Amino acid sequence: MRFNEDPPRTVQPDATADTTTEDTAVADTAGDAAPTMCDRSGGYAVVDKAMTDLIPKLKADCRIDRFFVTMPDPALAHMRECMALQLASIMRCSKDGVRVKYPALDSKGAQCRDMLNAHKTVGVHALDFDAMIDDMLAALGEQKTISAADLAAVADVLRFQRQDIVNPGDAGRGDACASEASAPVDTGEEY
Ligand code: HEM
Repeated sequence: MRFNEDPPRTVQPDATADTTTEDTAVADTAGDAAPTMCDRSGGYAVVDKAMTDLIPKLKADCRIDRFFVTMPDPALAHMRECMALQLASIMRCSKDGVRVKYPALDSKGAQCRDMLNAHKTVGVHALDFDAMIDDMLAALGEQKTISAADLAAVADVLRFQRQDIVNPGDAGRGDACASEASAPVDTGEEY
């Protein structure tokens, strides 16, 4: 699914990526002032903080750290900001009084890409995808302001992006964490 297409049916209306959905248009024209998922969860600042907290998690996650430990800081900053904007779009956040709609521009004016284009050369395996979802949900959950139901709805939307992000030809590390833990210690001795 492209990011802006209709979300899965199981998802709550305000957990959708709200660029083109009928639900959003109806709510807006009806002047529906009900709090959005983002309002309920503490606003854009909470989403932004969660994505800031996500970066060290990614670098420390032996399942997927290889993608992030060597990424230059400016690229990492762009990714972090775009991830926050994307989540903000899903959760219907406003930033500086304006509803966030992904794909947006980051604070330096650089365009955030859609998921297909952002990941087509990254080489993401299905296991990597699962690890990323784990880490994103953990970062969001640790903010303690998002209800379990809203977190589950966000998870549904994120998981629906799997086919745009995962490349079936790429090899995940699978048991990388286990093998790292049991790797022989280099004593420096020569035999
Ligand atoms: C639902 C899961 C995911 C979401 C929502 C997501 C979101 C994003 C976003 C918003 C960007 C920035 C787009 C841009 O550069 O303009 C990005 C880039 C990137 N993502 Fe993901 N991503 C996900 C899964 C993954 C996974 C599983 C990996 C690898 C483990 C990954 C690795 C990367 C990398 C390396 C970039 C930078 C690509 C580049 O600049 O060339 N992503 N992602």
